[in-house]
Amino acid sequence: MSQKVPVTRADFDRYLVPSYAPSRIVPVRGRGSRVWDQQGHELIDFGGGIAVTGLGHAHPALVAAITEQANTLWHASNLFTNEPALRLARKLVEATFADKVFFANSGAEANEAAFKLGRRYGANTGGENKYEIVSAINSFHGRTLFTVNVTGQAKYSSGFGPRIEGVRHVAFNDIAALEAAVGPNTCAVVIEPIQGESGVIPADPAYLKRARELCDANKALLIFDEVQTGMGRIGKLFAYEHYGVVPDVLTSAKSLGNGFPIGAMLTTDAIAGHFTPGTHGSTYGGNPLGCAAAEVALDIINSPEVLEGIPARHERFMQRLEKMAKDYGVFSQVRGMGLLIGAVLSSQWQGQAADFVRACEDQDLLILQAGPNVLRFAPSLIIDFTDIDEGLDRLERAIKSYIGARESATA
Ligand SMILES: Cc1ncc(COP(=O)(O)O)c(C=O)c1O
Repeated sequence: MSQKVPVTRADFDRYLVPSYAPSRIVPVRGRGSRVWDQQGHELIDFGGGIAVTGLGHAHPALVAAITEQANTLWHASNLFTNEPALRLARKLVEATFADKVFFANSGAEANEAAFKLGRRYGANTGGENKYEIVSAINSFHGRTLFTVNVTGQAKYSSGFGPRIEGVRHVAFNDIAALEAAVGPNTCAVVIEPIQGESGVIPADPAYLKRARELCDANKALLIFDEVQTGMGRIGKLFAYEHYGVVPDVLTSAKSLGNGFPIGAMLTTDAIAGHFTPGTHGSTYGGNPLGCAAAEVALDIINSPEVLEGIPARHERFMQRLEKMAKDYGVFSQVRGMGLLIGAVLSSQWQGQAADFVRACEDQDLLILQAGPNVLRFAPSLIIDFTDIDEGLDRLERAIKSYIGARESATA
């Protein structure tokens, strides 16, 4: 019998590769937008496991779906297809522009598939020189070797050998830069409709529209990385619907499985045909458990009850955050869409987002940072208004106590 030995945060430093620096808090249980740690503290979750638990923790319908599937079939491999994968693919196609779906296990893997598809499409349609990928400065697309090279932040790719050739980075929202970079050798343009990790920065509608035109003119694929913005996060199932600009390829992960690892790449019939048996794959991609979770998550999220509840929740956050910006001078801007919101620290507090996150933890509140200067909020899409209000009270207490401590330290 397997035995549950007692463990603490200190065991992370002892037993895990130090590629993360996790919080002192070790969550042990979650329900809705509340999480409990090893000491029994009840925390309010405004981070959603980095924009993942779109339906909160332990949603009964998801628990039931995973339990039922666990009792039925966990794994089949891609030597076979399986019913949850078939159902989920069909529902994703029916809900979006796409005709075909490729399943992966994470956002990075969904993007890896998209970038490989872009290159294969370029080789097949334009010859050996059509392999350039145009991406945005400060973008984030994942941690595999290809995705760190497409990511527009050198810190993620430096120290990992020669850069992957043929990736050009241009300033985000700069139409002239995009026009100068995209040409006949471009196979794909990759854009996050809202740059998430680098500070919750929405794309300008005109920028995405121009990207679409440039891709059409140069026979390049327009890839939207909706790993963070998708699955209802901004109030539509996917952000492209909000912008009215339809990509050729879209990637999803994070809230797709509500915490069960799954990613997906969506595309059209014509483009999907550039992948043939053997060109790309993954042992776990389309795993029945992940697909069973995502099918139910999609059914619930893609409903008027959930999507139509998001604007009011957005407003509740915005009003209070903007008031805190005025009352404490702590934010210079509050931005974002739906329940992906960024509060930009004012000049006096720049570089201190991690300290604010810790101050919130001291008040039993989980929030995120997006780079050193932005506090990010990505709660459950169905968070109760009482939890929003209570969490914002805790945030205000954290701000007051952090500011107070800093002021007395410098007095
Ligand atoms: C826009 C975007 N793309 C890709 C990724 C990578 O996803 P994953 O961590 O699941 O590989 C992330 C993760 O934060 C993301 O925000």
